[in-house]
Amino acid sequence: MRLVIADSHLIVLAWPEDGALKAFQGVCPHTNAPLSDAEFDGRVLTCPIHNWTWDLASGAPIEPQESPLAEYPVKVEDGVVFIDTAGVSPLFAAR
Ligand code: FES
Repeated sequence: MRLVIADSHLIVLAWPEDGALKAFQGVCPHTNAPLSDAEFDGRVLTCPIHNWTWDLASGAPIEPQESPLAEYPVKVEDGVVFIDTAGVSPLFAAR
């Protein structure tokens, strides 16, 4: 897992187990805190501040069932990662 910046968007790049490269918002939907110290076990991303979790195969919330992570289209060509930020904005929980 890596945190990168593309077009002023903070983005989590991750390779979930059994999956292709994924790109999700790099800020927590709870408080907008950067996910720079988040833990990733190959499937689940955990925010270290209040331990909210997401499945990085889809960005779906696990616990609590609040906001998913916004996903960015991503592709790799000749070893270069391309992230499409057009029209994608971070999602946030209602609370
Ligand atoms: S700031 Fe991430 S879970 Fe609260």
